[in-house]
Amino acid sequence: MTIKAIPLPKLSGFTERDGSWYAEEIPLADLAKEFGTPLYVYSKKALTEAYQAYDKACVDGQGKRRARVHYAMKANSNLAILNLFAKLGAGFDIVSAGELARVLAAGGSANKVVFSGVGKSTQEMTAALKAGVKCFNLESIPELTRLNSVAGSLGLKAPISLRVNPDVDPKTHPYISTGLKGNKFGIAYDDVIKTYQEAAKMPHCEIVGIDCHIGSQITEISPYMDALDRVLDLIKQLDASGIKIHHLDIGGGLGISYTNETPPAITEFANTLLNHIESKGFGHLEVLFEPGRSLVGNAGLLLTTIEYLKPGETKNFCIVDAAMNDLMRPAMYEAFHAIVPVKSNSKAPAVTYDIVGPICESGDWLGRDRSLSVQPGDQLAILSAGAYGFTMSSNYNTRGRAAEVMVDGTQVHLIRERETIESLFANEKVLPA
Ligand code: LLP
Repeated sequence: MTIKAIPLPKLSGFTERDGSWYAEEIPLADLAKEFGTPLYVYSKKALTEAYQAYDKACVDGQGKRRARVHYAMKANSNLAILNLFAKLGAGFDIVSAGELARVLAAGGSANKVVFSGVGKSTQEMTAALKAGVKCFNLESIPELTRLNSVAGSLGLKAPISLRVNPDVDPKTHPYISTGLKGNKFGIAYDDVIKTYQEAAKMPHCEIVGIDCHIGSQITEISPYMDALDRVLDLIKQLDASGIKIHHLDIGGGLGISYTNETPPAITEFANTLLNHIESKGFGHLEVLFEPGRSLVGNAGLLLTTIEYLKPGETKNFCIVDAAMNDLMRPAMYEAFHAIVPVKSNSKAPAVTYDIVGPICESGDWLGRDRSLSVQPGDQLAILSAGAYGFTMSSNYNTRGRAAEVMVDGTQVHLIRERETIESLFANEKVLPA
């Protein structure tokens, strides 16, 4: 079987030069040697450029800020990445008290944090109220009622927004669409006005915004425009009923190129939405974007070493030292990540392999049917792994999670040490004798 060459995503932080791959100015092979594998590698330049691409649209021609990025940190919550974005001026979109603690530890400010998620606990609400977050994005009346009582017991007023489920099809993987009627997320479109009216009666809540999120890895602009129009219509109706909305949070979800996808460029995407909001007469609203993947996805890769090549009856396997516990996306969504040898190897014949890890599951694969010229000991780079890579990793099979480094030109910084085996069971206890 001949395999067609697979298009690679366009990357700004990682390049191939004379058969060797580099992270900015450092050969990936040198990073593997110094830090071992599996290793997550991020490019500071690529992270910065992606952020600035949003921010360019967020400031108008006169230098007035018309929108702000609230980085959806579930995509990658390493403190060094949060700190970089905080320094660039980002706010954050969080979904747990753990994420809030990370923002604060990384130097982010609570008053630029929006708290999303369908199941916030009382403890999480308490922590966020005490920290002084900008807004709670709420998804149901029971959640609203609980927040009202938690805020009341603390003598505080909770700033709130309701998450609208606009019922539009984002045309993405079913596991990552969130704005359809059958999804657990948001408040059904037809119930939004009456839920706001309930919220307006809550003495310890203050309505400040409206939000929506329709899904992730969306590579077209039209589902956004549909959702936006539906939300703008609600803002008009709310206004008529005396409920004023100050900010509009249009969620995250812009897709990236993993191979041949062609999502709109970030600045163009953000400008199109912001211009549309202004042209419809809503230029007075403060606008929030909540991007995750498009800020970090193509700014990271996962470096792995080939342990064995194992010919099989129907397939050949390339067994590497990274596994589904390091990068869950292929196993979970059959997601595609381009995989390249870190150095070209002229001695090895091109063979078609499934790239698999050492975990005891047939679902433990990272790439399928890839033509590679490789030998054991060679390294591979799994591209576009900066988003939902490390954050979704686990200790399955008692495997320590990978180390993470950030490259900045010719400099490399270790931003997370490899987990030690002992640390994996340090919190466990055997029964008394
Ligand atoms: N805001 C909310 C409320 C969200 O639920 C999400 C992602 C985002 C923002 C950021 O969306 P992004 O810009 O990253 O598409 N683990 C999956 C993706 C799950 C996305 C969940 N929500 C994956 O690996 O593809």
